[in-house]
Amino acid sequence: MNKIYITTPLYYVNDVPHIGHAYTTIAADVLSRHYKAKGNEVFLLTGTDEHGAKIADAAKRAGKDPKDFADELVPKFIDTWKNLDVKYDEFFRTTDPKHEEVVKDFIKKLKDKGHIEKKSYEGWYCIGCEKYLSQEDLVDGKCPDHKTEPVKQFEENYFFLLSKFQERLIKAIESGELDIAPISRKNEILGKIKQGLQDVSISRENVRWGIKFPGDEKQTVYVWVDALINYYSATKIYKELDDWESHPADIHLIGKDILWFHAVIWPAMLVALDLPLPKKIFAHGFFTIGGEKMSKTIGNILDPNKLVDKFGADALRYALLREFPFGEDGDISEEKIAKRYENDLANGLGNLLNRTISMINKNGLEKDTFQIKKVVPDTLTVNGVKFSQDEYYAQHMKNFSFDDYLHDIWWLYIKTSNELIDREKPWELAKKNKNLSVLYHCYKELVQISYLLNPFMPKTAEKMSKQLKTLKPELLFPKLDK
Ligand code: MSP
Repeated sequence: MNKIYITTPLYYVNDVPHIGHAYTTIAADVLSRHYKAKGNEVFLLTGTDEHGAKIADAAKRAGKDPKDFADELVPKFIDTWKNLDVKYDEFFRTTDPKHEEVVKDFIKKLKDKGHIEKKSYEGWYCIGCEKYLSQEDLVDGKCPDHKTEPVKQFEENYFFLLSKFQERLIKAIESGELDIAPISRKNEILGKIKQGLQDVSISRENVRWGIKFPGDEKQTVYVWVDALINYYSATKIYKELDDWESHPADIHLIGKDILWFHAVIWPAMLVALDLPLPKKIFAHGFFTIGGEKMSKTIGNILDPNKLVDKFGADALRYALLREFPFGEDGDISEEKIAKRYENDLANGLGNLLNRTISMINKNGLEKDTFQIKKVVPDTLTVNGVKFSQDEYYAQHMKNFSFDDYLHDIWWLYIKTSNELIDREKPWELAKKNKNLSVLYHCYKELVQISYLLNPFMPKTAEKMSKQLKTLKPELLFPKLDK
């Protein structure tokens, strides 16, 4: 049995969670459920990033102490993941004193090994990004992501000597020791590293809200360094991970916006302490909402909890991962989710289940014929090549091709079975000569679908298999309130 350690980013607690955070977390949950169902032991870690200027500023605006402010926001994340049916194994907070100890120890070791130096630094800092921006990064003097002018800062900071690790990182990424996916992101990162790495400031003089820098109480640890170390400190804090000796993570799942930190700074910090590198980093794309960047000013930020109230967790999980390839950018909107709900779920899957079970009942067919037996996955022929169905879908999962996985279930089973029913009219066949083959075929397909859908739509899969056992039809996807 394999042990698989999967992580999501630690989300900033400057505000309540939005649909972007939900996207990564749902995907991580799907992977975790899939690998668990395949008999692996999986540990899924998520949590919150609570230090630094961004959080301190947000707390100040709310007139609160930063820790109290974080304490109020953390339950919002926990509740959201519950609403979305995300089953994580631990929820990590960077304000956990045990983590603070590990961070201090980590930095002390970097210092002892000669990887840290004090230097003065002048640069343009974007609080939204929590990083210095170079002149080339700016568009009309502003941060292109946050549309705000960065603040000029002059500080004496402790620097991590990142430049020393350039060749080692290139080797690790090119050899696949550190696997970065999709390939376009890997090439992008390699290109950037080859342009040359600059040493990076890992302490802050003017930020009070953070972990005290070891050996210099006037400075705090740079929030990104603090947050990245979570992946390692979790393996010391949580008994199960510690028992597994689970460092390094098998999969760091992140959005493309934070690839540099995960694929360059984090691995260099690990190499500096002779620690093994994460096995895989997958950076997914970003979505816009109704064609526009999600932003407070535009007012198009989607609240995942409201969407769950409207569509249910399973439909939302389905719609988000079905809409466009995980590694690419795409667009979503409430209308698009509603369309998926009506077309794919209510009229597609729900209809197939409902009419199949109703017809079995109406025709008074022997209940014994329709029993969920252990479904032996059939073979599947795609482009002339034969696959076992199980392997075929596992391969999609391995490639993080969630959209293909779901597309194929709809295309290969749901659509064809619904068409088969329309064409063969099994209600007539059954009356005439009790020909059960069409109904039996659909029934078998539904058993297979409920098994394959389980990681994406756990509640639906459970309802499906219950109905397939009891043959009592129940509406899976009721009509939406307009
Ligand atoms: N705190 C850091 C991460 C530290 S990890 C050691 C951070 N937090 S964040 O709250 O800003 O979350 C960023 C992540 O949210 C992205 O990497 C991505 O996973 C998700 N997304 C935020 N907006 C998104 C979209 N518009 N689209 C898709 N995912 C998005 O960065």
